[in-house]
Amino acid sequence: MAQKIYYYPVWIRIWHATNALMFLLLIITGLSMQYGLFKIRFDYAVSIHNVSGIVLSVCYLYYFMANFITGNLKYYRIKFKGFFKRLWVQFVYYTVGIFKNQMPPFPLTIKRKFNPLQKFTYVSVMYIIVPLIIISGYAMLFPEIIYEKVLGIPGIVLTDLVHVCTGFIGSIFMIIHIYFCTIGSKPAANFKSLVNGYHQTE
Ligand code: HEM
Repeated sequence: MAQKIYYYPVWIRIWHATNALMFLLLIITGLSMQYGLFKIRFDYAVSIHNVSGIVLSVCYLYYFMANFITGNLKYYRIKFKGFFKRLWVQFVYYTVGIFKNQMPPFPLTIKRKFNPLQKFTYVSVMYIIVPLIIISGYAMLFPEIIYEKVLGIPGIVLTDLVHVCTGFIGSIFMIIHIYFCTIGSKPAANFKSLVNGYHQTE
C-alpha cells in the first residue's frame, strides 16, 4: 500500500541544500583554477573555493553530529552478512529489472530509507571521500602542517593528489547521485521529497 514517510526532517534539508550548493561552487571554482574553465578570475576562484570549503566542513560537522543525535545514522548501518549479494541484486534491478517494469527488490519502508547501493555509496562518500576532501583541503590551506616528505615524495604533492582524486570522485558521485534521484514513482518525486520532507512509496 502506498504511504507517505517523513524521511527528511528540516535539519537534513538545510544540511543537504547547503552541502549541495557548496559542492557545486567547489567543483566550478576547482575546475576554473585547474583548467581555466568558466573564465573566473584566479584570485576570485581561490577565495570562493576557500570560503565554500570552510562552509562545507562546518556543514559536515553538523551532519556528522546530527546523524548521531537524531538517530538518522541507523539508516546508514551496513549489515555485512550477505551485503554484497544484496548489492548485486540491487545492481541487477537497476540494469535489467527496472527496464522490465519489475518491482524494486528492497522497497523503501519506515525502517529502510536507502536501498543497498544507496547505503554503500552514501556511507563511502559521507564517511570516506568527503572527510578526505576536507582534511586534504585544510592541509593545503595551511601547508606548514604537511610533512615535508613521505616515502621520498613531497608531502604537498601527495596532499594535492589526494585532494584532486577525492574531489574528482565526489564530482562523479554527484552526477550519478542526481541521475539516480530521478528514479522514483515520478522523475521529480525524490527532489520534491527533499523540499517537503515526505517520501511517497510506490
Ligand atoms: C545539486 C546537487 C544534488 C541534488 C539535486 C541532490 C538530490 C538528492 C535527493 C533528491 C535526495 C533524496 C533521495 C535519496 O535519499 O537518495 C538526496 C539525498 C542525499 N544526498 Fe543529495 N543531491 C545533491 C548533492 C549531494 C551531494 C554533493 C552530496 C554529498 C556529498 C549528497 C548526499 C546526499 C545524502 C547523504 C543523502 C541522504 C541524506 C539522508 O537522508 O540521510 N547530495 N539528494
